[in-house]
Amino acid sequence: MDRIRIRGGNKLNGTIQISGAKNAALPLMIASLLTSETLTLKNVPRLADVTLLLRILRNHGADMKMDGKRTRTAAMNGETVHLTAAEIVDTEAPYELVSRMRASFWVLGPLLARCHETRVSLPGGCAIGTRPVDLYLMALDRLGAEIELEGGYVIARAKGGLVGDRIVFPKVSVGATHTAMMAAALARGETVIENAAREPEVCDVADCLVKMGAQIEGIGSSTLHIQGVERLHGATHSVLPDRIETGTYAIAAGMTGGDVTLCGTRADQLDSFLDAMREAGISVEATDDSLRIRRNGNGLRPISVETQPYPGFPTDLQAQIMALMTKADGVSTIRETIFENRFMHVQELARLGAEISLHGDTAHVKGVPRLVGAQVMATDLRASVSLVIAALAAEGETMLNRVYHLDRGFEALEVKLGRCGADIERISD
Ligand code: UD1
Repeated sequence: MDRIRIRGGNKLNGTIQISGAKNAALPLMIASLLTSETLTLKNVPRLADVTLLLRILRNHGADMKMDGKRTRTAAMNGETVHLTAAEIVDTEAPYELVSRMRASFWVLGPLLARCHETRVSLPGGCAIGTRPVDLYLMALDRLGAEIELEGGYVIARAKGGLVGDRIVFPKVSVGATHTAMMAAALARGETVIENAAREPEVCDVADCLVKMGAQIEGIGSSTLHIQGVERLHGATHSVLPDRIETGTYAIAAGMTGGDVTLCGTRADQLDSFLDAMREAGISVEATDDSLRIRRNGNGLRPISVETQPYPGFPTDLQAQIMALMTKADGVSTIRETIFENRFMHVQELARLGAEISLHGDTAHVKGVPRLVGAQVMATDLRASVSLVIAALAAEGETMLNRVYHLDRGFEALEVKLGRCGADIERISD
């Protein structure tokens, strides 16, 4: 199993190219199941989750080519992917695959909409809480599906097809919004989705569905009007830049000090995060497609952050901002309102010398003058990268174990940081 060794203390200086967003690429790939024609996706990040999803889609009958070349294996080796689900050969998504990546549960919507029946394994709990699927099932029920739960599987049927209706989400859910939107695109009549997620990744998927012939109004707002169509067609779409990767490297630069430019990104999708960075005393300069992050000499100020659905502060940057605050001059408060139990990184950060106390959904982070390298373990994707950030500013050597969590969501992390001067190396045993 790979490990990552970091010797802390180097300032980061240079340029980092931001990859396509994992959280948009996955649902976009799943949207290919809605049409028999080819969906071409550009700027797809090279990540373990993408490779796994390609395998899952292949199981359902999708044919894939990368960079115009046909591949024999589903290994991810290019950033343009052509997906053609001319025929759905299997409407079942088995436990072995869905349990490895929660987002693969999202095949439920398109398979039901196109084939009128499907059997998809429940994803189960995970390291960041119970993560139920009640909102997905409620949405599909509203569109006329009959749903049974049996043996750990969701069995959904819609004889004669789905029918549009009004869906009011009691809580904002990214995955349930993707599911409702994709299902409604092929339902008969109009669907109105209220309290829809407004995350940029949801908008990116909606934009792609429109290119495929879907009729969606209100993209970017919390109410979506979708007029169902009989069929969708092929399209070409470029995955939007990863705002979480952008925020993560911005924090790494602020943590170590130095001067880093993040290219190929969208600063306008990170407003609440960038406000927090400025409040912490980090200089942020944004252009249309880049961000320059600097901290020269001055200390970090403590801040108060609360995670919220977009446009609020993203939960996917909570662990990273906590790592940053371990070095601030004072006590910061970080409240997690999206996922219970998303504090797995706290204990590991403490191994590096951080002083953090937890009170329910709130963490108090008391800045310390120095962190010291140690053996640490990655627990989930965002938690792992918070340990990398802390290690970059710690004295001595940190060894990060269970790196596969990082590979799920960060493309070539050690290469990108290494080019900016970090002393970081992957060790393959
Ligand atoms: C997506 C992102 C994840 C991000 C999260 C919140 C992907 C692949 N993953 O996850 O990185 O952290 O959005 O921005 O895009 N909930 C229910 N019932 C449901 C569904 C969700 O109660 O049926 C709850 C969840 O437990 C959580 C909240 O709703 O408390 C938000 O979850 P959701 O937005 O659905 O997260 P994901 O789509 O799983």
